[in-house]
Amino acid sequence: MDYFKRTKIKDILAKNIGDYSDVIVLGWVRTKRVSKNIAFLEINDGSTLFNLQIVILEPGKFPLDEINTGASLRIVGYLEEVEGREQSIEMKAKEIEIVGESPADYLLQKKRHSFEFLREIAHLRPRTNTFGVVNRFRNKMAYAVHKFFQERGFQYIHTPIITTSDAEGAGEVFSVTTLDPENPPLTGEGKVDFSQDFFGEKAGLTVSGQLEAELLACALGDVYTFGPTFRAENSNTSRHAAEFWMIEPEMAFCDLKEMMVIIEDFIKYLFRYALEEAEEEMAFFNKWIDKGRIKTIKEIAEADFGHVTYTEAIEILKKADADFEYPVEWGIDLQSEHERYLTEKHFKKPIMVTDYPKDIKAFYMRLNDDNKTVAAVDCLVPQVGEIIGGSQREERYDVLARRMEENGMNIDNYRWFLDIRKYGTVPHSGFGLGFERLLMYISGMSNIRDIIPFPRTPGNAKF
Ligand code: 4AD
Ligand code: MG
Repeated sequence: MDYFKRTKIKDILAKNIGDYSDVIVLGWVRTKRVSKNIAFLEINDGSTLFNLQIVILEPGKFPLDEINTGASLRIVGYLEEVEGREQSIEMKAKEIEIVGESPADYLLQKKRHSFEFLREIAHLRPRTNTFGVVNRFRNKMAYAVHKFFQERGFQYIHTPIITTSDAEGAGEVFSVTTLDPENPPLTGEGKVDFSQDFFGEKAGLTVSGQLEAELLACALGDVYTFGPTFRAENSNTSRHAAEFWMIEPEMAFCDLKEMMVIIEDFIKYLFRYALEEAEEEMAFFNKWIDKGRIKTIKEIAEADFGHVTYTEAIEILKKADADFEYPVEWGIDLQSEHERYLTEKHFKKPIMVTDYPKDIKAFYMRLNDDNKTVAAVDCLVPQVGEIIGGSQREERYDVLARRMEENGMNIDNYRWFLDIRKYGTVPHSGFGLGFERLLMYISGMSNIRDIIPFPRTPGNAKF
């Protein structure tokens, strides 16, 4: 099928090719215009947002009646540079072959569709301008994540998807079982007997690769994961998905302050990468999604993040001239309205909030000397809210064991996690960046369902 002989439209439009004659293009029809003596096809092959214009000088010679929007074609032709058009190169067709027809009921005719409608047809939406851009942007930014860590000597590690531990201790784990739901084996007390299940105990999908990343960091030094994570969290918001991708670096011999330098470097690196290496996508977002996006991201890439402790943040919120639905007092979990006030009204930029009360954070965070707060950091950004959660880890065996008990955890299940503190323990720190939330922030896309190709949310796991 000419796979190796075809030229990608991105290279044609960039004039990255030597020979303009007998070029083969494989792609899908976006539009067709036919008149008596001339016809035009706009072809897209997914390599770029932009279409290649195909000019047909003798329309009668080609099967144009059978070519509809959405059809896939093989076209052979020669390229010509032209002036005064959006694209300065076009193709004159010599041969056109229909690879796959597209009946007239194809849903993506040339008109604008709402994002809500496009979610219903997520199998076709990658062929629209917006979702082509979103997917290519995801690809570029995923590469940037690896580039950042690889350039700094971090090892990319793979942590398990199926696990018997709840890394966040928040009980948001999806079960993984092969037991018959209609007729499960029971224990003497009438509970489901998971000892007869596939793994011999209760298992689920991971909510975070952190615990295993800690084990590897305490052997390899600097590591990072980049993989899917799952939360059975019944939050129907524009920022929560039941399946999302998380980047989790974990650094041995690193404390909270040192890690915060890495976080800021990392985020700014990703912003700059988007501006420099994803120009086509950023220009699109800036034009169609949020005018001013490029300016905002540029400014943030150059300014310092705000820094505030949780306790200071509570003071700011208490003094705020705002009507919060959820009352502010020391000890509360910051709600979205509070995060928005801090980032959008008070600081007007991304901020790092540190030293949260221990009771609202996970068991593994290092207890501060005040015995009330932990060495945690959340990175909050305007519009999206929390994009990063992280902490220095509790490296003291006894303190960690006590914290686990206080949290009602079964210590026997986590002996391995404690062992790391028994044999050559080190101060270590790590964080998790939600990949979708990062992309939402940079692009200005406002719903997480539109930044991941096939979103999983309460009530929806289609496609
Ligand atoms: O704050 P979280 O729960 O932290 C952890 O899981 C730690 N174990 C990370 C670590 O220290 N290695 O989640 C981290 C980030 C959040 O800040 C958010 O960006 C994203 O993951 N996130 C979600 N993104 C989309 N949908 C959800 N339901 C999310 N839950 C968390
Ligand atoms: Mg968090």
